[in-house]
Amino acid sequence: MTSFLILNGPNLNLLGTRQPEVYGRTTLDDIERMCHDKAGSLGIEVETAQSNHEGTLVEHIHAARGVHDGIVLNAGAYTHTSVALRDAITGVALPTVELHLSNIHAREAFRHHSMIAGVALGVICGFGAAGYPLAIEALLGALEDRAG
Ligand code: DQA
Repeated sequence: MTSFLILNGPNLNLLGTRQPEVYGRTTLDDIERMCHDKAGSLGIEVETAQSNHEGTLVEHIHAARGVHDGIVLNAGAYTHTSVALRDAITGVALPTVELHLSNIHAREAFRHHSMIAGVALGVICGFGAAGYPLAIEALLGALEDRAG
């Protein structure tokens, strides 16, 4: 069965209470539930994980190889800094959707650049928690197109 890893990075465990005017009031638990519901409705599986540590995120990406068919990654602030996460995605060669709750291009200049985007299949940002099910659907659609 098709399976995706839904991976969230630093500070996303605080969702619900963290700057709700920017990130909304949906908690990470709510988001993970939405992902499982979406996967169920599409007949696929998802595994969800979150870490505040860059190396742990790298290890989650490595462990996805041979287990998952793609990754939805909200790398949080590491998006803007992490060559290691970019290299991990390139290394496992799994199709990856970069995701952000907020529209990073409408925010501070340091958020406009992503280390991940250049190796991602696509980027979804600015739709809040609704971006997660969108990303799952888009990733599945892209895989189905590839399979022909
Ligand atoms: C974020 C955007 C990042 O710039 C920020 O550091 C985050 C969350 C988002 O989901 O909007 O932690 O990835």
